[in-house]
Amino acid sequence: MSEEQIKNLEAQFNARIERDEKIEPKDWMPEKYRKTHIRQMSQHAHSEIVGMLPEGNWITRAPSLRRKVALLAKVQDEAGHGLYLYSATETLGISREEMYEQLHTGKAKYSSIFNYPTLTWADMGAIGWLVDGAAIINQVPLCNTSYGPYARAMIRVCKEESFHQRQGFEIMMKLAKGTPEQKDLAQDALNRWWWPSLMMLGPKDEESIHTEQSMKWKLKRKSNDDLRQQFIDQTVPQADLIGLTIPDPELKWNKERGSYDFGPINWDEFWQVVKGYGPCNKERIKARVGAWKEGEWVRDAAMAYAEKQANKNFNKAV
Ligand code: 3HC
Repeated sequence: MSEEQIKNLEAQFNARIERDEKIEPKDWMPEKYRKTHIRQMSQHAHSEIVGMLPEGNWITRAPSLRRKVALLAKVQDEAGHGLYLYSATETLGISREEMYEQLHTGKAKYSSIFNYPTLTWADMGAIGWLVDGAAIINQVPLCNTSYGPYARAMIRVCKEESFHQRQGFEIMMKLAKGTPEQKDLAQDALNRWWWPSLMMLGPKDEESIHTEQSMKWKLKRKSNDDLRQQFIDQTVPQADLIGLTIPDPELKWNKERGSYDFGPINWDEFWQVVKGYGPCNKERIKARVGAWKEGEWVRDAAMAYAEKQANKNFNKAV
């Protein structure tokens, strides 16, 4: 294809983005657009699947059948979110095996937030309330992202995330209104999950290498810092409501800005975790690689069964 033809195609593509049209798998798209979507969408899918591990740890330890059922449903939802997102990413021409290989070898990232340990039951509340709360803030704009399959996957995901956030906040509310020991558990979980939840929304804008281009392509609709501020402004009143203290002595309502001013984020910690040196990075990848290996026979059996069915249907048809 000549330079001229590519320039024309790019101009038409950009005009479609301008008109807020959805780009579909079979449409022409710049190679860089395809690549950055594979990057973000596959890492989003990895995050959902790895994100099942911290909570899975507490399913057998839930304090009541009701809590166990809600947590079980949530973890199953995360698996479904991962599968929608892997399927949406496959429409861009990458195979499921390739994506898994990238996760298992550390070539692909997953969200930093899932590299922290879940030490008490209150962590299930803090994760639902804060992590899924931040995820909703980040994922609602993605329902309007320019790539059709990603936007459509996000609509279903966001509906389920609001249940996740609510069941988490209810756990925190019960504990905060419970015995002093239970309130201490909730406060300890908030102290440990608050800052990593702010970091989950990505590096500060001036260190975000993808934001500018992702905003031009309407992949990203809001910057990392804007989403972070929105999360803080929404969450602080919720903590006040249940009598918990946000672990940030510099947190203060700024009347002029109509937002909370907040203290410095430990970006060294963030990049350490992103680079694989967080408290649970090795454990998480070991669990994922182990699951992939132990699940090989299931994949082989499913493929063999599908082939047998296909042959059966073929023989019936001839
Ligand atoms: N953890 C790990 N890596 C991160 C990160 C985080 N919290 N935030 C940013 N990074 C990485 C980026 O992936 C990028 O590295 P790469 O080039 O190797 O991909 C680098 O740091 C620079 O960051 P940028 O801000 O330039 O990257 P993005 O523009 O991609 O923004 C993002 C980062 C906001 C996380 C964006 O990728 C995004 O919105 N992703 C979709 C949502 C998502 O993945 N959420 C993760 C949690 S899923 C979840 O919470 C499930 C819920 O059910 C609990």
